[in-house]
Amino acid sequence: MLRPYNFVKIVPKGLFMPDKITIPQIQKMTDAGEKISVITAYDHPTAVLVDRAGIDMVLVGDSVGNNILGYPSTVPVTMGEMIHHTKCVRRGLQQALLVGDMPFMSYQSTPKKAIENAGRFMKEAGTDAVKLEGGEEMVETIRKIVRVGIPVMGHIGYTPQRESQFGAQRVQGRDEATAKKILHDAQLLEQAGVFSIVLEAMPWRLAQLISDQLRVPTIGIGAGPYCDGQVLIITDVLGLTKSPFRFVKRYANLEEIIEQAVRSYRDEVKNGKFPTIEEHSFKIQKGVMSTLKDK
Ligand code: KIV
Repeated sequence: MLRPYNFVKIVPKGLFMPDKITIPQIQKMTDAGEKISVITAYDHPTAVLVDRAGIDMVLVGDSVGNNILGYPSTVPVTMGEMIHHTKCVRRGLQQALLVGDMPFMSYQSTPKKAIENAGRFMKEAGTDAVKLEGGEEMVETIRKIVRVGIPVMGHIGYTPQRESQFGAQRVQGRDEATAKKILHDAQLLEQAGVFSIVLEAMPWRLAQLISDQLRVPTIGIGAGPYCDGQVLIITDVLGLTKSPFRFVKRYANLEEIIEQAVRSYRDEVKNGKFPTIEEHSFKIQKGVMSTLKDK
């Protein structure tokens, strides 16, 4: 899929290939009013498919914890796990911009630790940028990461790594005090140099105001239609999660499809319908069988 901001280059075999999407192109899309499509991916085959589908940006979210690894939340996810999954995704992408999500306690304790771990995403996993959660309290750290040349995506509103602080209150910024704090955080993150900001689970009018005020793109999840882009979690989009949040739209029901496929396979193994000689088996050369039987 070609976009107006993608230059086309001729690769050695004479094939035309669209260039990889860059951070400046993401900003240009927003300046031109083109929405940015973002989705999470955690493994190689999924990365190949989302890239082929023309997604602009792929986030290896720490949501790998609760969506793939079977943890109850994102909190237990380690740097090692994030690097492992991000490497798988990197190998599957040709065009989309790749963002690695910094897991809980990989960046909060000191800016030095944050720079080192952000650097691991870039050097070991080949990301184009990192994402981290938090507003005012993370400004100094973000500034320092950006200063060493690592692009940072912010994340404010509902931030899953603070799940135990938020409790059952998922939507943030409904009242005056929290709405003002989120707006202020967004302004501070832009000043600190983020290239984009995820706005999660907040009233759409607040997200609209932030998107209008900021130059850098806002990427919404549960933040209404006026953000500069949208992000969803791949397992939610594909219908692989049990009870997705209200803001999720399921575009397929893979849960049903996968279960039915495995059920059919199991049944055919049990009743001897799979494999067949004609379709799934290999022939031996003529005459060989008789020599074996004679032995
Ligand atoms: O971890 C994740 O998938 C995220 C998205 C919800 C933006 O942070």
